[in-house]
Amino acid sequence: MTTQCVTLNDGATGFPGGTATTDLIDILDTVDVPIVVLRRDFILVCFNKAAGGVLRLSPSDIGRASRDISVLAGLPRLEEQCSQVIASGGESRADFRDGDKWFVVRMSPYTSGDRQVTGTVLSFTNVTAFRASIDQVIYERECTKAILNTVADPLVVLNADQRIQSGNRAFYTMFFQLAPLRTQLKKLLAGGHGFQPVEVDHVIPGEGQRTLILAARPLALPGHSERRVLVTFQDITARKQAAATNDLRAIAERKEELWRSEAFLAEAQHLSLTGSFSWRVRTDEITWSAQLYRIFEFDQGMPVTLELIGTRVHPEDIPLLHDMIERARDAGTDFEYELRLQMPDQSIKYLHMVAHGTRDQEGRLEYIGAVQDVTARRLSEQALGKAQSELAHVARVATLSTLTASIAHEVNQPLSGIITNASTCLRMLAADPPDVDGARETARRTIRDGNRASDVIARVRALFTKKESTTESVDLNEATREVIALSLSELQRNQVMLRAELVNDLPHVTGDRVQLQQVILNLLRNASEAMSGVDDRPRQLLIRTEREGEDRVRVTVRDAGVGIGPQAKDRLFDAFYTTKSGGMGIGLSVSRSIVEKHHGRLWVEQNDGPGVTFAFSIPGEPLAPEGERKSLEKPVDIKV
Ligand SMILES: Nc1ncnc2c1ncn2[C@@H]1O[C@H](COP(=O)(O)OP(=O)(O)OP(=O)(O)O)[C@@H](O)[C@H]1O
Ligand SMILES: [Mg+2]
Repeated sequence: MTTQCVTLNDGATGFPGGTATTDLIDILDTVDVPIVVLRRDFILVCFNKAAGGVLRLSPSDIGRASRDISVLAGLPRLEEQCSQVIASGGESRADFRDGDKWFVVRMSPYTSGDRQVTGTVLSFTNVTAFRASIDQVIYERECTKAILNTVADPLVVLNADQRIQSGNRAFYTMFFQLAPLRTQLKKLLAGGHGFQPVEVDHVIPGEGQRTLILAARPLALPGHSERRVLVTFQDITARKQAAATNDLRAIAERKEELWRSEAFLAEAQHLSLTGSFSWRVRTDEITWSAQLYRIFEFDQGMPVTLELIGTRVHPEDIPLLHDMIERARDAGTDFEYELRLQMPDQSIKYLHMVAHGTRDQEGRLEYIGAVQDVTARRLSEQALGKAQSELAHVARVATLSTLTASIAHEVNQPLSGIITNASTCLRMLAADPPDVDGARETARRTIRDGNRASDVIARVRALFTKKESTTESVDLNEATREVIALSLSELQRNQVMLRAELVNDLPHVTGDRVQLQQVILNLLRNASEAMSGVDDRPRQLLIRTEREGEDRVRVTVRDAGVGIGPQAKDRLFDAFYTTKSGGMGIGLSVSRSIVEKHHGRLWVEQNDGPGVTFAFSIPGEPLAPEGERKSLEKPVDIKV
């Protein structure tokens, strides 16, 4: 079908005649947009080929009124709009749907040669695909919106002017003040980088205070130069609350732990009878643990002062307390003291105190210390010391009883001397004339022998009767000589050759003279007994005193006896270890404990030749200045 036309007005066609008209008609037929021309009275006068195809117009429709043509009747306000176009000379538009097709109908005035508007040209632009794509876009947008609305955290897109472009429901529900973030957002939108997430607290109506993390990220949309930014708000309220709850729980647990460890500490302090304290030296602020109050028997919590402490300290230890306080104030270093308390019932408590000095940033000195009630330990140490003394005494008595024979001999000798001298004296006095000078001389010898006997008895008495240990300055050479004197008869009986090398400038030692003599006596006896079966060599015994290093004194006893087997060596010092039929086996164990009580040590060494050497060394007292010391004495071979 080609363009169909009828005359528009009084039998004239709407198009000028001639070749141009024919060409125009041909041209319209090439356009695939349906074009329909209506006369002023809405009579269809012309339509092109596309209109025939698309709008299903047929040549028989020409000359009919538009309202009678079914497809045009579908345009509801067609006649009204056409009238306006004709009247105004302007254009009009209308949307038109034909089946599943959509058109935009453009209505333009048709002007005849004399510029009279004689009708309307309707052009139908098919916008079906366009509308479909718009619908699709709308649908996609709605989908996206629906999805974004399901996101619980607010989201918003801002343009370069920080105007809100779009936001999800959560964003609009929670009303946000973006003002405080303007500067940062501006920087970001200006192209700066590094928008740091910000934590903000925000009150949301109906929900109360929420904590949100604000983050912003630039949005780059392909084909769009405009900068936009997506701002997200992450609600971390629940997380923070959980963390806070956890923190609270952790704090509660820590408090519980702390309470338990404090309880443990208090219990441990109670059990170990140890209290603790702190002392701020500048202000004399003193803090005590509960146990320390118990030790001092003060009411719990009463303010502690140095004066108050002084009221409990044993009167004899008050100078010590003052000394301790003075030193601590000056030095700032750690200190350790033993103090006694005298309680209201006059009982004595022994305390052992250690303290550690620290300084804070301003240099203020504070001591943290512990005080242990060592009364029980001290009392048991005293009891132990007493028991040891008793044991030492028993050992001594046992030793002396075996020496009875030689002691009797020692006493006997001067006694028979006395008798002989006394008889001689009597004889000399009875002579005529009496030999007075001779009698005087023999009387003198009698006195000498009497003194000798009395000396022996005095020594024996000292060793026998003394139980308590006493401390004095002891000359070990002298003590050794006395022991030798007591043992001479015994050694003689055993045919022992004793050599004594007693160094003359030997420092004195501080200790118990009798106990130290007991050690020497035991070593001499053991040495002598170890040689009692030796017949193939001289029974030589060497006793030596000497200085050891700068400040110690050593006594050595060397024999040529049977020696000691490797197994016996480990047991020698055990109590009741003996290889002798009449031995008790406590000599060496008592000797060792005596030496240790004197802060010394006792040991044994195998000789190069036969026999062994026992030695002990103990601290000596400070020596006299060099010039005042005596020269060394020559060794003495004591004839026995
Ligand atoms: N100089 C020595 N040479 C060899 N053995 C020794 C010597 N001194 C001690 N012993 C050994 O060590 C043992 C223990 O000596 P310790 O003095 O303790 O007791 P004891 O002499 O046997 O008896 P006691 O209690 O009467 O002194 C001795 O029995 C002896 O076997
Ligand atoms: Mg012995």
